This record gives sequence, C-alpha cells and structure tokens, in this order.
Amino acid sequence: MTDTGTLPLIRLRNITKTYGEGATAFLALRGVDLDIEAGDFVAIMGPSGSGKSTAMNTLGCLDVPSGGEYLFRGVHVENLSRDERARLRRRYMGFVFQGFHLLARTSAQENVELPLVYRGEPAAQRHEAARRALDKVGLKGWEHHTPAELSGGQQQRVAIARAIVTEPQVLLADEPTGNLDTQRSHEIMELLWRLNTEQGITVLMVTHEPDMAVYARRIVRFVDGVVASDEPNEPLLLRPTPETGHVA
Ligand SMILES: Nc1ncnc2c1ncn2[C@@H]1O[C@H](COP(=O)(O)OP(=O)(O)O)[C@@H](O)[C@H]1O
Ligand SMILES: [Mg+2]
Repeated sequence: MTDTGTLPLIRLRNITKTYGEGATAFLALRGVDLDIEAGDFVAIMGPSGSGKSTAMNTLGCLDVPSGGEYLFRGVHVENLSRDERARLRRRYMGFVFQGFHLLARTSAQENVELPLVYRGEPAAQRHEAARRALDKVGLKGWEHHTPAELSGGQQQRVAIARAIVTEPQVLLADEPTGNLDTQRSHEIMELLWRLNTEQGITVLMVTHEPDMAVYARRIVRFVDGVVASDEPNEPLLLRPTPETGHVA
C-alpha cells in the first residue's frame, strides 16, 4: 500500500503494451504517463490506432500492461491477480461502449440489474437501484422495453444506467457516441457531464469528435502510443452564451 493522501486517483507511469510476440510484436503503448484526479472529465483523442482503446482497457483493469506502473487509489494494479482486478473493476468502475452491448429480448430494467446480479444483491434492492439508475438517465417509464423497442440514444442511456447502477467512482466510455446521430450524441454528452458535475463521477471518454470532446474538462491526445498533448478545456456547458453572457 502506498500513501494515498498525496496520490491522484489514477497514476500511470511509463506504461507500455505489446501485442503479439517476435517478428509480429506490436508496441501499442510506448511509455504513457498520466495522472487523473477524482472528479475529472477527460476526453481521450487521437488518430485511429494511436492506442486509445488499449489505454482505456488498461485504465479499466480489463487488461494488464506489459511494463510500467498503474496506481489506482494507491494500489499497484500491475501486481494484482485476475480475480483482484475483477473485484476492483466491479467495485469502482463502470463501462460504456460504442455498440451499447445490451442483452436483446431483455428489458431495460433487467439489463441495468445485471451487474447487481453478479454482485449477489437481493432482488428487491436490485429492482430499486435499477429504477433509480434509469430515472437518472431520463428513462423513467421505459423500464420494461427491450433494446429493439428503444432508439440508439435510449439504448446508450440504458447502457449508461447499467454502468452507474453500482455507483462507480470512474466511468470509462470508449467512443460512446460513435453510433449515434449528432443530436443524440449531444444528449449523451450532456448526460455524462451531469453525472460528472452532479454525482462527482470521474469520466474517461474516448472520442474522435472535437464537438464531443469540448464537454470535457481536459483533453488528452494520443499519437503513436504516447500522450502527445494534455490540455485543460473550458467545458462547453460552462461557457457563457453570446446572448446572455450567462452560463448555458
Ligand atoms: N488484441 C490486439 N492484438 C494485436 N494488435 C492489437 C490488438 N489490439 C490493438 N492492436 C493494435 O494496437 C494499436 C492500437 O490499437 P487501439 O488501442 O485499438 O487504437 P485506437 O483505439 O486508438 O484506435 C493498433 O495498431 C492495433 O492494430
Ligand atoms: Mg479504439
């Protein structure tokens, strides 16, 4: 255990990731350094193949780095067993993907309850927590609809409800608006923004769309497996509107 008082929520130091071996080995991450404080909202950008998803899989403890240090709440993730990583993930992290990944022919309510089933929570608590999560994402009244009966934007809301039903500290979203039209994308970004500001959830989001990255508090750009730039951003929803001079 390290002294967590002086550490950020997340610290990556010289993280490398190699896929494959020998002549076909590919170095997807070439020494990534990154600190992320609790409550931040980070947009990860960069060209295709620059290592964004690899970095997200590492941050989300879905995969282990080939080298370097990953400290999460002061815990060395690179030294954890597969089971310990799974426990850390279930306790602290929620995931949202481009393709929603919902179970078909299964209601929104049941999809959202799933992480709590894995946790072994009693049915009554699960029902209540899932209803609350669906309410938070604006889907009150849609509990019994299946994915096929919902729009893409609504399906992504269900996926976000499923990600936050366990009250995670960190929400990791890999191109969450990649399958959505512009209007729906902005609605999802506003939702992520609200979860960040109102619930204090740390949001890490990959996007290749500058219009979506502007919702974040910070923009990190990957190029060729390293962090090429790391800049604070004035989040779109805090910028004064031209008409009023007030915050939108
Ligand atoms: N499982 C894998 N096996 C081999 N190569 C991989 C694997 N996953 C990703 N890569 C390679 O690593 C590089 C980075 O991939 P990725 O992290 O998915 O980039 P991004 O998300 O920025 O598009 C790419 O060149 C990709 O082809
Ligand atoms: Mg990717």
